[in-house]
Amino acid sequence: MTREEFIRQVPLFKELRPEDITILCESTRTITLKKGEVLFRKDDEGTALYIIQQGSIKIVLPSAGGDEIIPAIFTRGDFFGEMSLLDGMPRSADAVAIEPCELLVLNRSHFFDFIKGNENVIQSILSAISMRLRRTDDLLEDTCFLNISARFAKKLVELAEEHGEQDGDLILINLDLKQRDLASMVGATRESINKELRLLREKGLISMIGSQIQIFNLELLRRRIH
Ligand code: CMP
Repeated sequence: MTREEFIRQVPLFKELRPEDITILCESTRTITLKKGEVLFRKDDEGTALYIIQQGSIKIVLPSAGGDEIIPAIFTRGDFFGEMSLLDGMPRSADAVAIEPCELLVLNRSHFFDFIKGNENVIQSILSAISMRLRRTDDLLEDTCFLNISARFAKKLVELAEEHGEQDGDLILINLDLKQRDLASMVGATRESINKELRLLREKGLISMIGSQIQIFNLELLRRRIH
């Protein structure tokens, strides 16, 4: 697929005029990342916006003690790195490739030139930021008010709905997430997620083969959220 064909499919750019797509093609470049490669770290200077053409990226809030929170996972068609461009502050989190990635890079000055003439793009960015804030509010709320079983079930349902592929009666989540990543997504320890996974496997709701998660019964998983 050419860069232009890809750009036409990105939700953020869905209402661009053909001439803007041409400009965008000319002002972006493509980079690749290996699995596990760090694109940038929290507190780095923000120099560009990234759009995922292939692969997936985890956004990580690291702690001094080595623990992490993962507030978001981004996949094909998603953008990230907008916050430090918009507010001029350093990067708010790390960005790490979960699997090999191909990213479109729009550097700071091109980003501002580009949004100036495109109200639709500004609107899409604002609505994405609102959605991300809502999600972060949810995470905060759930961390305070739900136990780990409910939080984990909710995260699995969310992953299934957003990234799951139906395979007969199964839903497969192929994001190459480790138990540690799952724990960081719900503010739990790896040990407690290991226990949860064992429990859900015993109940016949899910199984995890390597880093692939198989969901056998989404409805029963949903009932665990309360
Ligand atoms: P920036 O701060 O430039 O670099 C880190 C990026 O991670 C940030 O821009 C956002 O794109 C993304 N990010 C940071 N925090 C969150 C969050 N709570 N939810 C979703 N995305 C986030």
